[in-house]
Amino acid sequence: MIQSSHTLTASELDQWFNQRLSAVEEALSLWISPDAPAGLGQAMRYAVLDGGKRLRPMLVLAAREAVGNGVKDETFDAAAMRAACAVELIHAYSLVHDDMPCMDNDVLRRGKPTVHVQFGEAQALLAGDALQALAFELLTPDSKSTAMTYAQKSIPDDVQARLCRLLAKAAGFNGMAGGQAIDLASVGLALNEHQLHEMHLLKTGALLEASVMMGAACGHTNAQVWNCLQRYGRAVGLAFQVVDDILDVTSDSVTLGKTAGKDAANDKPTYVSLLGLNRAQEYAEQLLHEALKALQDSGLASAHTLVALAQRVVNRKT
Ligand code: IPE
Ligand code: IPE
Ligand code: MG
Ligand code: MG
Ligand code: MG
Repeated sequence: MIQSSHTLTASELDQWFNQRLSAVEEALSLWISPDAPAGLGQAMRYAVLDGGKRLRPMLVLAAREAVGNGVKDETFDAAAMRAACAVELIHAYSLVHDDMPCMDNDVLRRGKPTVHVQFGEAQALLAGDALQALAFELLTPDSKSTAMTYAQKSIPDDVQARLCRLLAKAAGFNGMAGGQAIDLASVGLALNEHQLHEMHLLKTGALLEASVMMGAACGHTNAQVWNCLQRYGRAVGLAFQVVDDILDVTSDSVTLGKTAGKDAANDKPTYVSLLGLNRAQEYAEQLLHEALKALQDSGLASAHTLVALAQRVVNRKT
């Protein structure tokens, strides 16, 4: 376990996390309407609610708090809550599609049957599509709408545009979707370290990095802070997938809430297949050091939660 003098204890992080978690859960539940036609709303809600660690929303909120430096700003806080939920919707959509028979063919997710098992493949495809669209709807609130019941603040156009751009880039061909394409094209292949690094940065790292940067966009930063937060987000994002590869081998399906051992079963190249367990773990710890160094270089005075979240990513058991 890596320690840092500038960090929260585990229980302080839990407290910070839980205080924000209920607001995120409430907002997600409010924003995903059960009224979408022909059962689509139920499939969307099933995909997002009641499960998930919510790491990406918490990275958005922690980065927002770090750049806000304790100064209250209701507009930026409202924007950050929208960004937190939007990235979780994109993440949930990526999981729905990732689990489909044409991709990883998984039957268990977040401790429940996967969306296509529960609702059928066509509905799972559509639920993913609709969640992706909803993410961008959340980032562009209509200030004239009376339906804006949560976080009644309107968000300045430039902030909306910046958030949309960050999320769109991270979700698209040069982010998650591109990484997933590499993942599928790599089944049965022995990728070298450079290729695996690229795949993981895209398929998983991009959305985690974007979470941090969307939080940073909900505040005033200079270029140096922006660049350091980007380094932090990139390192944490990559570390997250390295640990996902490790847990696939070392954990079990009940603990993970998804089927363990799937990477080897599907003949996927991973950091464990490339480096072995010990070196993969060392690499995750090296990435943690890189993330913490980036925060130190940022000079941010309120980065303690980001420190603790990075440590949790690398030391997590689920
Ligand atoms: C799983 O992500 C998929 C990867 C990108 C490795 P999480 O482990 O964050 O999944 P949830 O949101 O907690 O279910
Ligand atoms: C998932 O990678 C990356 C996504 C973009 C969803 P994995 O396929 O390893 O994720 P899990 O292990 O199924 O959660
Ligand atoms: Mg996959
Ligand atoms: Mg998978
Ligand atoms: Mg995995």
